Amino acid sequence: MQKNAPKFVKELKRTSYCGALNREHDGRDVNLMGWVHSRRDHGGLVFIDLRDREGIVQVVLDPNQPTMASAHSVRGEFVIAVQGTVRARPAGMANAKIKTGEIEVVAARCEVLSEAKTPPFLINDDNVSEILRLKYRYLDIRSDRLTQNLRIRHNVTRAVREFLSDEGFLEIETPILYKSTPEGARDYLVPSRVNQGQFYALPQSPQTLKQLLMIGGQDRYFQIARCFRDEDLRADRQPEFTQIDMEMSFVDQDDIMAINERMAVALWKKFKGVDIGQIPRISYQEAMDRFGSDKPDIRFGLELKNLNELVANSGFKVFEDALAKKGAVKGIGFETADLSRAFIDKLTDMAKKAGAKGLVWIKSDETGKLNSPIAKFVDEAKLKQIFHALCPSGKGCGFIVADSFDTTCAALSALRLFLGHEFKLVDTSKDAFLWVVDFPLFEYDAEGKRWAARHHPFTSPQDQFFDDLLAGNEANYGKILAKAYDLVCNGYEIGGGSVRIYRSEVQDAMFRTLGLSQEEAQEKFGFFIEALSYGTPPHAGIAWGMDRLAMILCGTEAIREVIAFPKTAKATDLMADAPSHVSREQLIELGIRLAELPKA
Ligand code: AMO
Ligand code: AMP
Repeated sequence: MQKNAPKFVKELKRTSYCGALNREHDGRDVNLMGWVHSRRDHGGLVFIDLRDREGIVQVVLDPNQPTMASAHSVRGEFVIAVQGTVRARPAGMANAKIKTGEIEVVAARCEVLSEAKTPPFLINDDNVSEILRLKYRYLDIRSDRLTQNLRIRHNVTRAVREFLSDEGFLEIETPILYKSTPEGARDYLVPSRVNQGQFYALPQSPQTLKQLLMIGGQDRYFQIARCFRDEDLRADRQPEFTQIDMEMSFVDQDDIMAINERMAVALWKKFKGVDIGQIPRISYQEAMDRFGSDKPDIRFGLELKNLNELVANSGFKVFEDALAKKGAVKGIGFETADLSRAFIDKLTDMAKKAGAKGLVWIKSDETGKLNSPIAKFVDEAKLKQIFHALCPSGKGCGFIVADSFDTTCAALSALRLFLGHEFKLVDTSKDAFLWVVDFPLFEYDAEGKRWAARHHPFTSPQDQFFDDLLAGNEANYGKILAKAYDLVCNGYEIGGGSVRIYRSEVQDAMFRTLGLSQEEAQEKFGFFIEALSYGTPPHAGIAWGMDRLAMILCGTEAIREVIAFPKTAKATDLMADAPSHVSREQLIELGIRLAELPKA
């Protein structure tokens, strides 16, 4: 049956996509090629829904004609070629559900180009486990859903390239086999065969490289860059992902934010048809105080309230201990619905998962009487005061966490997001952007007992803090603010960047502060520190998470839905079965001995 197939392709070139046909093509002769989406055999006539990237069209075949004899035997996902004529469907037979529903193609000839085994699931069936869909990703890619997402992503990439090129940016590629570029994750290492015992690191981002391009005088750089980070994965995180990475010379924070704001406006205009207007800015401190998160979803309220003063002498030890340790007592008031005890227990578990030791709740019943596990510790008037600070309406339930500032924020932010989504308080009709600025330059790593860079070690402090950094004034490290900025949309960090350190002595001081010895700094970044001393322009940059951007523009909440071949939460590829063992010979060639060799 298949031996004639190549002849068909040779003789008859495809004239149209199935999904591109409409009423205007009535009467036109066409050659179509695609996949059998479904087939209805009425004996005398066979109806095939033929699918390609652009959509589905109904083909009518008469299997009694020798040129269409194969119509009886085709099955789902066979690849066929059809020669035929477009005709308007008879009155009353139009199918409004598909784009091509007003027409059909009456076949004169049909040939099977490729047979298919029965697929493990029907294309476009939404009730299929993700594991199965990832194993047969190429079949899932045939779905409308992924076809559409991949197309949107392509169009976004294209729009970004156009926008940045028009702004004078040059697209420059940087190496994948390189040296460690720290962004806070573990490196993926690649052993070198030629230089045994030595390893390349895949870039966590092109950070040092793009700065070197500025030192190299390229002025404005961008790249749709693949990045690799060995870190714990989440719904919006992949071990390899794509950034829209950019860097500019002779600019300050406001310049780079302005250009990126213009890009966000242009993208939303093009892909959502909306004007997002000016993007509001808030400081890191305000974001944490009000939302408990440095990437707040501001499409709903439920803001956090500071209770430090109110609970200072409340008599409840947990509160007072937290304050004594310079921690924070904060709460949120939920007034929308009456919550059951079981539901409150669920929220308590959630707060504990986020690191809190517990969750205090104060709930009013129908009569206005307050219930709370801390009623036995706190006198009635105080309890009432605290409750009203959280729930001014006098109804609902207040939740309180007492811990270090960061833990309190993390727990209440988790609660806030859960309640917001669970009770549909989030206004999903619009996308809410935010710039978060004035980040701390450092964060203290209590476990490692050292200071770490909050963004990365190339970020400049704000001008008033240079002296603290250069003088090694550790008492003030926690207060130093950075020239760093994050772009947040709907609670996702879609981009982050900073103004860079551009003097080698400041970069030196930075590495010292981060606990790198002179030798370590030299070994890891010596080339970079040296480069800074050969005439470095002031420069700044940012990188957008391309996948997260595509996710929001495609209206999905899973990053896997906008990546053709994504990895699982365990960083594996279920289709190709990667990572996988390698042969003993390969290991020997690389000079690598495993602690325990896999079975050959
Ligand atoms: P940062 O580490 O903030 O900055 O990354 C920039 C953006 O990349 C996206 N992103 C990710 N997306 C998917 N999976 C991941 N594992 C992942 N990690 C990060 C986020 C994030 O905002 N070199 C700096 C940028 C700069 O300073 O110019 C950098 O990489 O959307
Ligand atoms: P207990 O004295 O064990 O009955 O605790 C009283 C309430 O305090 C319980 O609801 C605990 O969940 C809560 N709790 C304990 N530690 C904390 C904390 N650090 N922050 C908030 N609530 C807490």
